[in-house]
Amino acid sequence: MSTPRARLAILASGGGSNLQAILDHLRSLGAASPAEVVLVISDRAAAGALDRARAAGIAAVHLPASASHTLAALLEAQDITHIALAGYLRLVPAEVITAFAGRIVNIHPALLPAFGGPGMYGRHVHEAVLASGARVSGATAHFVDTRYDEGAIIAQSPVPVHADDTPATLAARVLAAEHQLYPRVVAALCAGTLSLGSDGTVRGAPPVS
Ligand code: GRF
Repeated sequence: MSTPRARLAILASGGGSNLQAILDHLRSLGAASPAEVVLVISDRAAAGALDRARAAGIAAVHLPASASHTLAALLEAQDITHIALAGYLRLVPAEVITAFAGRIVNIHPALLPAFGGPGMYGRHVHEAVLASGARVSGATAHFVDTRYDEGAIIAQSPVPVHADDTPATLAARVLAAEHQLYPRVVAALCAGTLSLGSDGTVRGAPPVS
């Protein structure tokens, strides 16, 4: 009796390139894929992530921030088992984070714990990295808990910072690293080979090819 595939929801506010990377990776796994993306939710009706979901024949739901209190019921109605935040800029209700403890992850475009926390999103992150003089940046996949960017780190993918980098050129280099790292983390989580121990330690972080 094979384990039923995980039912994955993606929450995104932007263009959805991480969503697309996850879809493409799971599709590349074919019958061995441990998950099916069954729901994409965005707080922005015009989000490219919703367009990508529709193009893939996946339920695409605009959930305004004012209706975020209905998120738990929406996830339950779709029998969601795992959640991946992919550029989601809204707070996830604590009841959802608690209910999905160890089954909700996020991708951050810097090497946490540095350059994380309030206001550290999008180009603000890369501006801060460049202003700091750091010579390395990268992507961090982590579990989500109510401390948000402070959840247990799962895996990181470093990229060099070039002397002539702009926030845009650094963002593009980090985004490419995200697209390699995040789908493999999400797949490992849904396959059960990656987990969050009750002691807060991460078990089975996936190899990044
Ligand atoms: C990514 O840079 C991700 O690290 C951050 O938001 C951005 C989402 O980009 N959380 P996209 O919508 O996946 O293209």
